Amino acid sequence: MTKTSRISGFFKRSVEERRGLVKDFAGLTDEEVGNISGQIDMKLADRMVENVIGTIDVPFGVATNFLINGKDYLIPMAIEEPSVIAAAGNAAKMAREKGGFTTSSTGPIMIGQIQVVGVVDPFSARFGILAKKDEIMELANKQDPFLISVGGGAIDVEVRVVDSKSGQMIIVHLIVNCKDAMGANTVNTMSEAVSPMIEEITSGKAVLRIISNLADKRLMRARAVFSKEAIGGEDVVDSIIQAYHFADADVYRASTHNKGVMNGITAVVLATGNDTRAVESGVHTYACRTGEYKPVTLWEKNSDGDLVGIIEIPIAAGLVGGATKTHPTAKAAVKILGVESATELGEVMSVVGLAQNFAALRALATEGIQRGHMNLHAKNIAVTAGAEGDMIEKVAARMVQEKAIRVDRAKEILDELSR
Ligand code: MEV
Repeated sequence: MTKTSRISGFFKRSVEERRGLVKDFAGLTDEEVGNISGQIDMKLADRMVENVIGTIDVPFGVATNFLINGKDYLIPMAIEEPSVIAAAGNAAKMAREKGGFTTSSTGPIMIGQIQVVGVVDPFSARFGILAKKDEIMELANKQDPFLISVGGGAIDVEVRVVDSKSGQMIIVHLIVNCKDAMGANTVNTMSEAVSPMIEEITSGKAVLRIISNLADKRLMRARAVFSKEAIGGEDVVDSIIQAYHFADADVYRASTHNKGVMNGITAVVLATGNDTRAVESGVHTYACRTGEYKPVTLWEKNSDGDLVGIIEIPIAAGLVGGATKTHPTAKAAVKILGVESATELGEVMSVVGLAQNFAALRALATEGIQRGHMNLHAKNIAVTAGAEGDMIEKVAARMVQEKAIRVDRAKEILDELSR
């Protein structure tokens, strides 16, 4: 039997049933299933960060229906916001009709920056660094023999003379193929290691030596076609394109547009134990690479009148090192995803961003965003008002029906139903 992520009615199943389905899909062991719901061991938490006094849980779910480059994926997502996971799965379902998502990328290439100050003749210094590029890369590559053994390592050196408030400074970029690592540790170690050599060449002083989170050599791209029939007709196609044009023309909207994209991406980044801040800073910086903050997705119509969505963003996420390899839930998340490389992981994340953006724009352009939010929101309000067990569902349903989702109304309904 070929495995499929197209699981109808997944949301209607019990948590136990859902776990069983995901277990079968991903071939999880009982222990791995346990790790999805378990809190991490305090000893592990204490090793991960400083001054530990506890841990905080966020819900962990899977989005169904994702077909990417002909392969089925269940997408693990860790997020506190209702509707995001369901919306991703719905978007993926609609994309399946035209073959799902396709992706491409530039490879796992990161940039280490070395800032050199106090150079009298910056352009000659630049010339000198570029002339010694091979020696610099050789020294960088001595720092991580494992990375070299798997085909990665420093692959180039770039140098710019940058005007700053402190005068001209030389900025060296060490370009590193990080393979399956996010790369921060390796790139930072390499950048520190080559700095004395650069100081010697330039007679300057190397100050900052650190990775750049603008990972614009690690770009992930995804595309999908949504048939006009599947998404509600030509008007919906046009409204979504207009919504994109709104974001392209107005930075206030672009910010929210990209927030919707990041709802999906950050949830997968977090679920897989990757660095949410690194990916977010990279995406937002890439969004304003022209000097103006722009949407990171693009929407257009094809010759059939169907909607086409494209995303292009940097994603620095890895499969080795960091919490991805130590956090038991993150390890289970990677297994559920079934990705074999960091690049595949990044491409999948970009797909989720595109799907999430589609879902948000479609909802906004049609019935509005609130209805989808309301069911779960109403349940939370019912619980706040004191409902328990079956009453939660009953009180929530009444409030949704009445379009009055407030704690005071929940209390009234609860009183009434409890009589
Ligand atoms: C809410 O978390 C995300 C949205 O605001 C995104 C958008 O407006 O495109 C719905």
